[in-house]
Order: sequence, then structure tokens, then C-alpha cells
Amino acid sequence: MKIRTDVSKSYHAKSVEEQREAYDNWAARYEADLCAMGYRIPAMIAAVFVRYVPQGCFPILDAGCGGGIQAEPLAMLGYGPIVGIDLSDSMLEVASSKNFYSELKQATLGETLDFPDNYFGAVISSGTITPKHAPPHSFEELVRVTRADAPIIFSMRDDPLQEPEYPAMLGKLENEGKWESVFEGPGFHSMPYSEPEITHRIHVYKVR
Ligand SMILES: C[S@@+](CC[C@H](N)C(=O)[O-])C[C@H]1O[C@@H](n2cnc3c(N)ncnc32)[C@H](O)[C@@H]1O
Repeated sequence: MKIRTDVSKSYHAKSVEEQREAYDNWAARYEADLCAMGYRIPAMIAAVFVRYVPQGCFPILDAGCGGGIQAEPLAMLGYGPIVGIDLSDSMLEVASSKNFYSELKQATLGETLDFPDNYFGAVISSGTITPKHAPPHSFEELVRVTRADAPIIFSMRDDPLQEPEYPAMLGKLENEGKWESVFEGPGFHSMPYSEPEITHRIHVYKVR
């Protein structure tokens, strides 16, 4: 049986404000729903992260951290400090209750981020740089705030409903010499019990 959740509201938001409202309203139930949906992007990112990020590499930015599912396995292994940013204050409140983050800030990917150039030793983004969420040009700011040679590790949809501007941006930044691809995993069903048609891949790009 297909699990019914608010995920479709987030994929139909018509503006940043509607998206914020969708997650503010979903925050209290988000993690229970995502677990029921079989959500596995954070586990995949954690596995890739330990291959590409040495211990002692910090600070780490969790871009679109939501309620903090992604930080848990990294904090368990002693990685950090981890800084989380998200559009939704209610999602940030859930993340704050877990004590995995050194800092949590409301911020909108796609706009200028309030961090210095070359600041982070690694960046992760799980389930967020995706249609109706953070736009493709979000990567430009993530590259700016990441140190040279540091990895940006993220999920990206690769099913037929992916918008072509997202993969195009990966190639554009590579052609401009801003980053280089060091890993691209196979496609996997990221929420198999509720959205079996949606697949993602995990990517790692090293900033130049
Ligand atoms: C599918 S959830 C993923 C949350 C978390 N990374 C995880 O894996 O559970 C997407 C998150 O992105 C946030 N979001 C959507 N658009 C955003 C934007 N433009 N800038 C920052 N956060 C955004 C939402 O508030 C939500 O918390």
C-alpha cells in the first residue's frame, strides 16, 4: 500500500513562501512519515561521506538540513561541528531538539548565504536541491563557501521528472573549472514505499 504523506505538497509549491509553509506544517510529522516512506538518502550520503571526508575536516554545512536526519550518523562518528541551514523555522526547531548541530540558521538556498568565502571543509545536501525546493543555481553559493579541494556531497533526482536545469548546472560548473566530479553513484529508489517512481543518485564534487 502506498503511504500517503505531505511530500506531494512540497513538490507542488509555487513559491518559496508556499514551500516554507509546506514544511512548517509538515515538520512535526516529517521524520515519522519519511521513515514510513522508506527514505534512504541520508544513509546513502553518510556512506559516501565517510569515504570522502577525513575526520577532523570541519566545519561541515548541512544545506537544507530539515529536521536533522542527515547529521545523526555523522555526529555519531565524531564529525563536526556541523552547521545546518534551512528555509523552514519549524524544521529547524526539530533539528535543534536533537543537539547534533553547532549552529542552525534560517536561510534560503538560491539566495546569497551569510557565510564567508572558502569557509566549509565539507558540504552535504540531502533531498533539498530538487524541483520546487532549492534551485539549480544554489550550487554557485555552495561552491563559494566551500574551501578548495573540499567535497560537496548531495543527492540529485535522476528519474524522468527531474528538471534538466539541475544536471545542466553540474556540467556548467565543471566546464567553468569551479569543481570536478569525483563520484556518481547508481540510481536508487529514495522513497520506495510512497513514491516508487522517484529515483536519486549521490554525487560528490570537489571544489577547485
Ligand atoms: C526533503 S526535505 C530534506 C531535509 C533533510 N535534508 C533530510 O534529508 O531529511 C527538504 C528540506 O529543504 C528545505 N528547503 C526547501 N527549499 C529550500 C530552499 N530554497 N532553501 C533552503 N531550504 C529549503 C525544506 O524546508 C526541507 O527542510
